[in-house]
Amino acid sequence: MQDSFGRKIDYMRISVTDRCNFRCRYCMPRGIQTSPMSDILTYEEIIEIVTIAAQCGISKLKITGGDPLVRQGITWLVQELRKIPGIRHITMTTNGALLTLYAKNLKDAGLEAINISLDSLDRKVFSEITGFDKLDNVLAGIDAALSAGLQVKINSVLQENCNVDEWQALLNIAKDRPIDVRFIEMMPIGEAKNFRSVNNEELLAKIRGKYPAITPDTSIHGNGPAVYFKIPGFLGCVGFISAMNKKFCGSCNRIRLTANGMLKPCLCFAKNFDLRKILRETNKIDRPEKLALTIRTAIEAKPQAHSFENEELVSEYRKMFEIGG
Ligand code: 5AD
Ligand code: SF4
Repeated sequence: MQDSFGRKIDYMRISVTDRCNFRCRYCMPRGIQTSPMSDILTYEEIIEIVTIAAQCGISKLKITGGDPLVRQGITWLVQELRKIPGIRHITMTTNGALLTLYAKNLKDAGLEAINISLDSLDRKVFSEITGFDKLDNVLAGIDAALSAGLQVKINSVLQENCNVDEWQALLNIAKDRPIDVRFIEMMPIGEAKNFRSVNNEELLAKIRGKYPAITPDTSIHGNGPAVYFKIPGFLGCVGFISAMNKKFCGSCNRIRLTANGMLKPCLCFAKNFDLRKILRETNKIDRPEKLALTIRTAIEAKPQAHSFENEELVSEYRKMFEIGG
């Protein structure tokens, strides 16, 4: 359906857990408390929400976390979501550490594409950022996803005084393999406020300096706001997600479901709609209508744009792992 600014909202990001096997310092630092399982939506509850959301015009899903692969039975969920009338595309975002175990089954279950977060190819820096010496597992996960026939994208968050100089090494992943490498500007949510993001305009200028023949690529690569470029001789593209320096709210197409069942109209603001309460406190007969009404209300409540450039206006107080990114 359309929101009140005429944007078509057909994409839902679903966080299936706030747990993670990494502790990326800008997302989920050590010692943090995750929710008890009873607060997290069951798979049956997620399926019920998506069934109604599909009737409201949602056709594309992204499964997120925490890390979605730490939740048991995730392959089953993908398979069941795939059967829901109206759901046409399912993709996932993961840190990739468990992908060697799951890639093939996820593909068989109907997952089309996977975004793997990878901020560094330097073992030491990787450990500093994520808290774990698991770079090799992630690299093996990338291979496993490709071998399984999943479309693969890499998401890299570059930080000043940390991994900013790694753009070249990360970009090289796209050279010999059909993998898009996307550079994401860090948004000032939760822990990320303590770190300084790279500016994608400056990064593109650096990349252009090295590859003057880089050209914009206008073909569609996915559901999101990334802007893509081709570099001659590279199999994959380079993408930029520039939430800070190039607001893309005019083409926003999404709503977010947190692991504990809150439907969020916009990443920047705390406002959300409690679907878990409806699921748990409304009888089966009245539920579909109540869920549909609330989903439509949430879509209508989408603001015109985020306010990340003005931190005083950012009302979201939860951390990234609690929201789902
Ligand atoms: N800003 C931008 N991206 C973030 N991610 C986590 N926190 C932030 C933030 N504050 C990224 C992760 C991962 C994806 C799910 O979101 O690095 O690639
Ligand atoms: Fe886990 Fe992703 Fe957060 Fe890192 S960014 S702690 S991998 S959820």
